[in-house]
Amino acid sequence: MVVPAETPASIKNWTRRHLLGLEKLNREEIEIILDYAAYFKTLQKTRSKLDHLSGVVVANLFFEPSTRTKTSFNLAAKRLSADTVDFTASGSSLSKGETFIDTALTIESMGVDLMVVRHSSPGAPELLSRHLKTGVLNAGDGTHEHPTQGLLDIFTMREKLGSLDGKTVTLVGDIKHSRVARSNIWGLTKLGAKVIVCGPPTLIPPEIERLGVKVVHRFDDVLAESDVINLLRVQFERQRGAFFPSIAEYAHLFGMNKKRLQRSKENVLILAPGPINRGVELTPDVADGKHSQILHQVTNGLFVRMACLHLLAQTQARETPVQ
Ligand code: NCD
Repeated sequence: MVVPAETPASIKNWTRRHLLGLEKLNREEIEIILDYAAYFKTLQKTRSKLDHLSGVVVANLFFEPSTRTKTSFNLAAKRLSADTVDFTASGSSLSKGETFIDTALTIESMGVDLMVVRHSSPGAPELLSRHLKTGVLNAGDGTHEHPTQGLLDIFTMREKLGSLDGKTVTLVGDIKHSRVARSNIWGLTKLGAKVIVCGPPTLIPPEIERLGVKVVHRFDDVLAESDVINLLRVQFERQRGAFFPSIAEYAHLFGMNKKRLQRSKENVLILAPGPINRGVELTPDVADGKHSQILHQVTNGLFVRMACLHLLAQTQARETPVQ
C-alpha cells in the first residue's frame, strides 16, 4: 500500500526570500529544506507532475558552464509546473556591454518570480538579491558557496545514516577553490557532524580551522574514522599556478581506490559532487562500486531543488501584494 506523504508542517516556519548560502541558515532552516525534499522524494515515486509552482516563472541565469545543476533546476521547476526560461551569457547583451545587474533587471521586468544564478564571481547572487524583487537562488558563485549541492550531499548522507550528529565526514581535495567544500562545511557542522578537510597544504586555505573543521594532510590517516568521504574535484579552471607537482602524484596521495576502500569503514559512503575525473579523485571501480553515492546524489538533487524553489516561491507570494 502506498501511504500518501503529508506536507511537513515545518515549511510554515520558512521566511527567507533568497537562498544564497548555507552560512546564513540555521539548523532548523536546513532541516526544513531536507524534510521538504524528503517529502517530494516520496511523492515523486510516480513521477507525476505537481502543481506547486503553477503560474510561477523561474529564470535560469548561468554565466558559467553547467550540466547537472542547470538540468536539475530546470527539471525541478518543470516537475512543479513552473514556466522556465533559460539565459546563457554567451550571445547575450552582456557581450554588447550591458552590466550584469541591468541584464538581470531586464529579465525580471518580463515577469520572473525566481532567478537561479550561477556566476564565476563570489557574491554575484547576493548582489542581485539587493537589486531585484525576485527570489534569488545561488547555483554556485565562484569559490564561495553552492548551497543546493551542499544540501543534496547532506540529504544523501542523512538518508543513509539517519542523523549526522556525531558522524565524521571527510572532505578531500581542493578545499581552497571549492564552493562545494564551503557549503558542506557550513551545513554539516550545523547539523552536528565532525568535519575533516584533507588535501595538500597548498589546497587548504589558512585558518580554515576557524570554521570548526580539523585539517589533515595524509588521507591514509583518516580512512578508518570516516563515515563519509566526499571527494571534491580539483578545480583546475580556478587555479592560478601549480598547486601540486603532477596529477599522478595527486591521485597517488589523495585519490580513492580499492586499497584505501579496504582500509575504510565497512559501510563508508563515497560521495563526489561531479563532474568526476575518473582516475584522479577516484578510480572507476570505486566510482561504480557499491559504496558510491554519486548517482543517488544527482537523483536527490532534484528533490532538494524542488523544495528550495517552492519554499522561496511561498515567501515571494506572501510578501508580494497582487497588483
Ligand atoms: C560543482 C560545481 O560546479 O561547483 N559541480 C556541480 O555543481 N555539480 C563541483 C565541481 O565543479 O567540481
